[in-house]
Amino acid sequence: MTRYAHITGWGMAVPERVMTNDDLSKLVDTNDEWIRTRTGIKERRIADVKETTTSLAIEAAQRALEVANILPSEVDLVIVATSSAEYIFPATASLVQDAIGAEKAGAFDLYAACTGFVYALNVASQAVRTGSANTVLVIGAETMSRLVDWKDRGTCILFGDGAGAFVVQGSDTAGGILSSIMRSDGSGGDTLYVESYGRPRASGVGGLLNYAIYMDGKEVFRFATRIMAAVTKEAVAAAGLTLQDINIIIPHQANRRIIEAAARGLNQPEQKFMINIEKYGNTSSASIPIAECEAAERGKLKPNDRVVFVGFGAGLTWGAMAVHWDATPPPPLTTWQQITRRVQVGLAHARSYVRRGVRKVESRLLGSEEPIEKPPTKK
Ligand code: UT7
Repeated sequence: MTRYAHITGWGMAVPERVMTNDDLSKLVDTNDEWIRTRTGIKERRIADVKETTTSLAIEAAQRALEVANILPSEVDLVIVATSSAEYIFPATASLVQDAIGAEKAGAFDLYAACTGFVYALNVASQAVRTGSANTVLVIGAETMSRLVDWKDRGTCILFGDGAGAFVVQGSDTAGGILSSIMRSDGSGGDTLYVESYGRPRASGVGGLLNYAIYMDGKEVFRFATRIMAAVTKEAVAAAGLTLQDINIIIPHQANRRIIEAAARGLNQPEQKFMINIEKYGNTSSASIPIAECEAAERGKLKPNDRVVFVGFGAGLTWGAMAVHWDATPPPPLTTWQQITRRVQVGLAHARSYVRRGVRKVESRLLGSEEPIEKPPTKK
């Protein structure tokens, strides 16, 4: 029997701290008028020292699980799309899996910059359709504020922090994710990048890492306006639909002018697009699920709608998918369900704590099981 991948839960989390354009003008030579007219951004959220990509991802994931009304123990796979993980490894997804108590789940991170969420949704959809997983938690989470150069007015005004999550579940009922397009053009890799540890440096081992975002804004702008309309059309056609069938387009929120250009390119009214860049700036892989959550909350995304998610970013990468939004908002959790959920999460914390303790005690008591052979000494 054919399996279909349906989106059954969604949730978001953003830091409390708001940074307005006026706040930014105290850090770099900029002003509210320039930022608003050139980008559409009015404010963004910035993580405090206690908030991390992982903590935001956990919060968004827990909300999505509540909406889907499933327990963490039912999750088979956790995928986190991020460019701002705290660790090269372990994956943020593993930390989320542990924290929420998804004890039967596999977990990995996916790197496709701002297109990451669309890519991750595609991977989740394939896993569900082939039967290798039935319930997948897909998260886009970022603390971009830790990647920007706060002295570079060309980039620091754009980005913000946040996370969004979807639950994708298998079903025999037709619908859900209808089509998915993923594209990349690595020849544009030098227009938007952040260096990492694997890059050889002239100074040899341990040179100072410059991990701030480099961006050729104009070039990225040109690329984005070129591909947004084209890939949206591709995804719609691949789903056997026309643009007239689409009720709402939820794009990556990078610049309001890019979204307006896409609307013109598609000959569609701007009202068909979900735009909330004014509140959060560009939250990279988190921007699409955050925009979806707000669209659902505002009643702009309704049950039975046909929706397109479309993203683009470093790589260069871009992608889009058409979805039959057949998720009906579930009834609120009963008291019993709320208690079960809290107990499961509490137990997950306790189990994780105990496992860490046991691992430490074991390594003290047993040491290394294999005796380490000393290398032969030269005579
Ligand atoms: O997730 C994907 C990643 N990124 C993107 O999608 C970004 C795509 N690019 C963009 O959104 C736009 O190119 C920017 C918003 C980054 C820049 O807007 P622009 O309209 O391309 O401005 P510009 O770079 O051409 O700069 C115009 C002027 C320049 O001054 P002069 O040379 O005309 O005197 C800049 O120095 O604006 C100046 N400028 C600023 N002024 C005040 C540049 N940044 C600022 C600033 N505040 N923050």
